[in-house]
Amino acid sequence: MRILHVVGARPNFMKAAPVYAALAARNIRQTLVHSGQHYDFNMSDVFFEQLGLPAPDINLQVGSGSHAQQTAQIISRFEAVVIEQKPDLVVVYGDVNSTVAAALVCAKLLVPVAHVEAGLRSFDRTMPEEINRLMTDQVSSWLFTPSPDGNENLAHEGVAPEKIHLVGNVMIDTLVKMLPQTAARIPSDLPGRFALVTLHRPSNVDDIPWLSSMLEELSKISAELPVWFPVHPRTRERLQKAGLNGHAQAVRLMDPLPYLDFLALQTRATAVITDSGGIQEETTYLGIPCLTVRENTERPITATIGTNILVGRRIERVRDEVQNILQGNRKKGAIPSLWDGHASDRIADILARA
Ligand code: UD1
Repeated sequence: MRILHVVGARPNFMKAAPVYAALAARNIRQTLVHSGQHYDFNMSDVFFEQLGLPAPDINLQVGSGSHAQQTAQIISRFEAVVIEQKPDLVVVYGDVNSTVAAALVCAKLLVPVAHVEAGLRSFDRTMPEEINRLMTDQVSSWLFTPSPDGNENLAHEGVAPEKIHLVGNVMIDTLVKMLPQTAARIPSDLPGRFALVTLHRPSNVDDIPWLSSMLEELSKISAELPVWFPVHPRTRERLQKAGLNGHAQAVRLMDPLPYLDFLALQTRATAVITDSGGIQEETTYLGIPCLTVRENTERPITATIGTNILVGRRIERVRDEVQNILQGNRKKGAIPSLWDGHASDRIADILARA
């Protein structure tokens, strides 16, 4: 049997690494295809280095573009790869454009697809990722869900129960494996207490008045709690275009961080303020308070069981929740079941029987 994996954007790499390793341990032949959706050293190569993922066998080098352009380029270049490589099955991860593009190609070529991180829904179709999730799940043959809400969503959409496998969270597999290496990555100038911030969703960074008010609030917060903010390239571009870099003098703006370095900061953060999906999960596992600057989440378990609080796009909520945390009123959380470091073994066992 030969399995082909498709990755493309930063959050894919930490999901694919443990699945690749688990299949390698079962002597399954594998091919790794990178779409090239993310291409900067900081957004891609450094993750391969740190996570021990082999260099991609094939890089489609699609780069940036509108959603239609990027998706279309991946579809057209990946089709040739599937025809040439003839994999028995293709594994796709998460909800990025590379995921849906690869899944559609396989569906048309009748190559079965396994979707890792299936079933998550924000029920917000203005999010490009929600469209990607819906489409990918519809054409997949194995749907590996990280939490029971995923199973419920798929059942409501009419997905046959025998396709759905509750396996747990592969992102946490990587976290569990890498955690011991983070102690050596704590910067010597890290303050005892600090807020760690990431923002990159269009809903936060494409709305310039809103982005400006968030930055103003973050600089106010930094008077009491230093703010460290590794900036995604999309956000950096918006800040520059809108002339907002000056606004953020009090905030420590930095380049995107490698996996281990960012995880190290999460382990020590007083609070994390983010719009990322994966960071909601990582903070829940670590028991670190997380304020999610979104109206909804496709990972509700991080809020019902974990340490996540959806503050929406409301500045006063951000301010109040930071104050709560500073006063020691931290939301207590628990770790969802099957977030135990072995999700990828469960996936590999199922795929090895395919
Ligand atoms: C993508 C995913 C998003 C994920 C995020 C993590 C989709 C629809 N979105 O969003 O779900 O949370 O990755 O980062 O797939 N850029 C660079 N260098 C790079 C990559 C991007 O400078 O290596 C810049 C380009 O200006 C590009 C912009 O970032 O236009 C956005 O990149 P893109 O891949 O379109 O989406 P992300 O915002 O990264």
